[in-house]
Amino acid sequence: MLTRRVTLRPFDIAFDCREDETILEAAFRAGVNLRYGCRHGGCGACRTPLQSGEVEYDDGRGSAVSERDRQAGIALLCCARPIEDLELLLEDYEVSELTPEFPPRQYGVTLSAKRMLTPDVLLATFSLEDGERIDFAAGQYVEIDLPGQAGHRAFSFANAPGKNDRVTCMIKLLPDGAFGTFIQRAPLNERLTLRGPFGQFRIAETAADIIMIAGGTGMAPIVSMLADLAASGSRRVIRFYYGARRSCDLFWLEEIAEFASRLPGFTFVPAVADPTGEAQWEGEVGLITDVVDRREPALQRCEAYLCGPPGMIDSAVGILRSHGMFASRIRYDKFLGTG
Ligand SMILES: Cc1cc2nc3c(=O)[nH]c(=O)nc-3n(C[C@H](O)[C@H](O)[C@H](O)COP(=O)(O)OP(=O)(O)OC[C@H]3O[C@@H](n4cnc5c(N)ncnc54)[C@H](O)[C@@H]3O)c2cc1C
Ligand code: FES
Repeated sequence: MLTRRVTLRPFDIAFDCREDETILEAAFRAGVNLRYGCRHGGCGACRTPLQSGEVEYDDGRGSAVSERDRQAGIALLCCARPIEDLELLLEDYEVSELTPEFPPRQYGVTLSAKRMLTPDVLLATFSLEDGERIDFAAGQYVEIDLPGQAGHRAFSFANAPGKNDRVTCMIKLLPDGAFGTFIQRAPLNERLTLRGPFGQFRIAETAADIIMIAGGTGMAPIVSMLADLAASGSRRVIRFYYGARRSCDLFWLEEIAEFASRLPGFTFVPAVADPTGEAQWEGEVGLITDVVDRREPALQRCEAYLCGPPGMIDSAVGILRSHGMFASRIRYDKFLGTG
């Protein structure tokens, strides 16, 4: 099979990229870690300047790279295929970053438990084969194959990294969602294939106060992070804002209450956007981003972790920046469609 040489400047590290793979896939295969997020062309985290060479994109992929980017020689590594030997310019990388902490692998798993958390969120646990472990950092995700069909879907780990004999996912059941429909009907012990861990959304090892903001199943990586912080005895100040449409869309409340007893600096602020007809709701009302705007003071000394729908994240980034938070301290995972 035809291969192209991809060289990383200024490090002079090189690997071969086959014609049937993207630059990012080839880097994984070569054991090289490059920056990325969704792996599906939607988030832009893998945008990288080319020092030389040209790339092409499959139809419909690469929506996060504009025509202007293309003309300026910017490539979207998760979708781009080299059409000649390439040099990538990684000027703001440190060489240590190029070695993945947890190299992704393929695993055979069985669906070992599932239960509905809300009318449209399903909690599914996939158990690894006896003795297998999947090492990951809280905030990362896996890609699960759709049995009998081409393609896979991305779901974040909701379990703590210490519980690594399984992958627990909070799965939003979308109207006509292929994976959601499959997993609802699948019997226990169904066998599946997944790959991971992927993603660079993870807690920075600093002492800064933490703001977490999530909506929908964006809860998943955040609870994994909280479990990890609790397991390490963290005493950091953490304020977790969670937005739901109605109070019946709130979930994982007992588990979150338990974090409050293990994390001395932890506060949970749930908000309901539309409490119409909900006599019982006494918490915050409104979009979660407006609640953050109302409650938070200046945020120069804080860092933030955001997860959920792209619109919520874009709005939250704007609000955090308007409260003085540095852009480099805002980390997020946008839950884009991965079909
Ligand atoms: C890094 C990453 C981590 C993710 N983690 C999770 C997670 O932990 N839990 C989770 O529930 N989802 C998560 N997602 C989103 C999930 O991968 C997609 O929503 C996926 O497409 C769902 O698969 P499906 O087969 O059920 O629906 P599909 O068959 O893929 O989609 C059905 C329909 O819904 C639309 N659609 C798909 N996803 C979305 C969306 N997010 N918002 C609005 N419309 C959509 C599609 O365009 C299509 O019309 C993650 C995405 C990324 C990129
Ligand atoms: S656009 Fe390439 S990783 Fe998201």
